[in-house]
Amino acid sequence: MSATSQTGQTPGLYANIYTPTFLSIIYDVVVLRFNLRYMWRCRTDTVLEPFFAENFSRRHLDIGVATGYFLAKALSRPFRTHVKHSIALVDLNPNPLNAARARILSEAPNATVETVVADVTEPLPKALQHSMFDSISMFNLFHCIPGNEKLRAFSIYKDLLADGGVLTGCTVLGASHATNWFNYLYVKLYNRLGIFHNLDDKREDYERVLKENFEEVETTLVGMTLLFRVTKPLRS
Ligand SMILES: C[S@@+](CC[C@H](N)C(=O)[O-])C[C@H]1O[C@@H](n2cnc3c(N)ncnc32)[C@H](O)[C@@H]1O
Ligand SMILES: *[C@@H]1O[C@H](CO)[C@@H](O)[C@H](O)[C@H]1NC(C)=O
Ligand SMILES: *[C@@H]1O[C@H](CO)[C@@H](O)[C@H](O)[C@H]1NC(C)=O
Repeated sequence: MSATSQTGQTPGLYANIYTPTFLSIIYDVVVLRFNLRYMWRCRTDTVLEPFFAENFSRRHLDIGVATGYFLAKALSRPFRTHVKHSIALVDLNPNPLNAARARILSEAPNATVETVVADVTEPLPKALQHSMFDSISMFNLFHCIPGNEKLRAFSIYKDLLADGGVLTGCTVLGASHATNWFNYLYVKLYNRLGIFHNLDDKREDYERVLKENFEEVETTLVGMTLLFRVTKPLRS
């Protein structure tokens, strides 16, 4: 297990939010159950969990881990706990990495878990430069990241995807994808409070960048949440 500090960006908001107690209770309930279902109109249990599990492999990289919820759910499925999994976790902050590692190991004690502190928009951390994965996930990550350059993460992390591998993810889109006045106001409020940075995020921008980096791109919109699954990374 290794932890490398890679980024110059100061761990801000998220470092404080992901303390262990806040973690499992508030995050899972408020963010994954309430917000996704009622605000962003995309259910975690019936849509996102199966979507994550479908392309979860024995050699997996999860980026933006928070509580490790989706990993734990996928690992608890039949046949999973007795297979030896090798899982790498990338996050801006050490708190979620430690929490997610503990949660994974409680589901699958034989898994190998490598944690890497890194900003997904920065060049590949040294610890991962020679790694390869059959599956990579970026769930609920991009709507948290500020700046116009965040989607370059796809061109950076595609290098870690094996030829037959698959990258999946989901992100809440911006105000132009609101489905009612309530989530329109809610996404504006979240951006004003600095919880989300996705006010202008649009489906077509994600699709364009994904197509620049992958031969096969599938996206689907569920409520305000964009799900993407891409394969065949275009090698530079
Ligand atoms: C909203 S949580 C989503 C967690 C989990 N994938 C889920 O769907 O429940 C976002 C996570 O991404 C991390 N994060 C935010 N910005 C990041 C960045 N630029 N690079 C890497 N991780 C980041 C946060 O620390 C947090 O753990
Ligand atoms: C990913 O999941 C889809 C849907 O279940 C499946 O058709 C595809 O074969 C999977 N790909 C890989 C590489 O596991
Ligand atoms: C972990 O590995 C040990 C030794 O290979 C094995 O006996 C045990 O059943 C495994 N545990 C799980 C939960 O797969």
